[in-house]
Amino acid sequence: MSADDQKRISGEAAAQLVEAGMVVGLGTGSTAAWFVKALAARQLDIRGVPTSEATANLARELGIPLAALDDVKSIDLTVDGADEVGPGLSLIKGGGAALLREKLVWEASKRCVVIADAAKKVDALGKFPLPIEVVRFGHVHTGHRLADIAAEFDLLPPRLRMADRGIVVTDGGNVIYDLPSGVIAEPAALGAALKTVTGVVDHGLFLDLADEALLGTDQGVVKLVP
Ligand code: A5P
Repeated sequence: MSADDQKRISGEAAAQLVEAGMVVGLGTGSTAAWFVKALAARQLDIRGVPTSEATANLARELGIPLAALDDVKSIDLTVDGADEVGPGLSLIKGGGAALLREKLVWEASKRCVVIADAAKKVDALGKFPLPIEVVRFGHVHTGHRLADIAAEFDLLPPRLRMADRGIVVTDGGNVIYDLPSGVIAEPAALGAALKTVTGVVDHGLFLDLADEALLGTDQGVVKLVP
């Protein structure tokens, strides 16, 4: 089975968790897109809270009614992808530059389900460079401070994320620094250290947030709990 098929079956399984009347957090990325499509096909009476402009556009095209995060009291269920699924369902997210809105939506949710293809499951976080969202003003200086923190954790300096058209700018108008590591030995300590830097808005370590994972594998969808 291709990685895309694994993403599809995990997204389709997650869509079965949604019930009429729910407020549903809609994740971002290629796996979350499969979930959004499968959810739209069910034609349930729900409201979706999108985690990015890209997901909002997809949901609108498919006819899913949307609400802004501030228009709902809480979210019943959020379904979203991940770049890595590590021990205890610790996650790296933000490969699609949506980590800030994703984390805000996850933290407002009663239940969070991560969906992914089998290759995302890792024994230790860190092979995927950790995305860090940084305010644009003075970001080069912030990048130097991040390099100092990286050195304290024996990690390489972070790199400003670029695309063909120049610097990548998030939906919130910020930039992304990616921290290559190999292995993040102490995710909680690293996350806390990154948050001490004034220019850092947030980072892609999602710790103690996922309630379950639905992993698409060649043998079908496997459910993991922390
Ligand atoms: C978006 O910022 C990310 O957190 C995505 O959820 C993550 O990059 C997974 O993307 P794919 O589902 O496309 O692999």
